[in-house]
Amino acid sequence: MSWIKEGELNLIEKISANVLKAGPMPKHVAFIMDGNRRFARRNNIERQEGHTQGFNKLAETLRWCKHLSIPEVTVYAFSIENFKRTKDEVDGLMELARQKFERLLEERDNLEKHGVCIRVLGDLNMLPHDLQQLIAKAVITTKSHNKCFLNVCFAYTSRYEITNAVREMAWGVEQGLIKSSDVSEPLLSECLYSNNSPNPDLLIRTSGEVRLSDFLLWQTSHSCLVFQSVLWPEYSFWNLCEAVLQYQLSHKSIQKARDLHREHQASLQLEADRVCVAEHLQHHGNGKPADVQRRQEALQHYTTCRQERVQDFLKALKHKRDSYFTDLCSDGV
Ligand code: FPP
Ligand code: MG
Repeated sequence: MSWIKEGELNLIEKISANVLKAGPMPKHVAFIMDGNRRFARRNNIERQEGHTQGFNKLAETLRWCKHLSIPEVTVYAFSIENFKRTKDEVDGLMELARQKFERLLEERDNLEKHGVCIRVLGDLNMLPHDLQQLIAKAVITTKSHNKCFLNVCFAYTSRYEITNAVREMAWGVEQGLIKSSDVSEPLLSECLYSNNSPNPDLLIRTSGEVRLSDFLLWQTSHSCLVFQSVLWPEYSFWNLCEAVLQYQLSHKSIQKARDLHREHQASLQLEADRVCVAEHLQHHGNGKPADVQRRQEALQHYTTCRQERVQDFLKALKHKRDSYFTDLCSDGV
């Protein structure tokens, strides 16, 4: 099956979608697509067929999201923990990914027509080299599309992603691009694999398991979490509508928590800048206390310099990441 499933909603689905769309809609939905193997066992089919049907369900879900005007979706396709499964199953999942990314490249015109940008979040180094190259090609091919976004978490766990972000900031300090005092919560967010996306509004896990399994831990602290008992390959349009409805019911409190958090971050940053300026003035002020106007000017100057420094660091980081993908592509596919 292709990544893009064409087709309209039927009449009752269309009416329901329009009713839902009269309320606040999530702009970004994340899925833990769990239950493929239980689905296979219950239906007496091969485990690999369960995963294949899981992919088909993903394509169908993307179509529903498009009709519900949800422009961004993130899915947990392969966790670093999944490498601990049997060789047979890991090889099967790698082969499925190979087939699907090859297919994605074949249907590049259709992806362009629909404006679909595919990103892969995770440590590609853990994957077979040919798959790394295919993924890099797919990501580069759809990079400039901007109508809808699919983030595929592959060789991913959240704690690994956060640790990697901390490493990137340490690299920035080592290179003299940023100061250790520039390290902050918003800067760490910018160093995550997910830096190009807003945080998910809604996270859905299927199969009845009530845990996050190291998925988007940083990004979902103010998201609506919905756990549904249906197995992923059996997921339906109505399951998705029910989850969106739950989001709508908690939308106000989520929004409030986010606003409060944003304000708190801004005041923390201001305080951090003030401390740096005070230290600077103490060292360079010949023991004389600075007046209010001088402190204010110094603070403004420091804030502007810090913002420029951070932007230059993020540009360098982006260049490093882009080069990794282009090098993989020019590596003779
Ligand atoms: C979880 O169910 C599912 C996975 C570990 C794999 C998910 C992968 C897909 C749906 C295919 C996506 C492929 C691409 C290329 C995007 P499980 O295996 O944990 O099943 P269980 O919970 O019943 O044991
Ligand atoms: Mg599972």
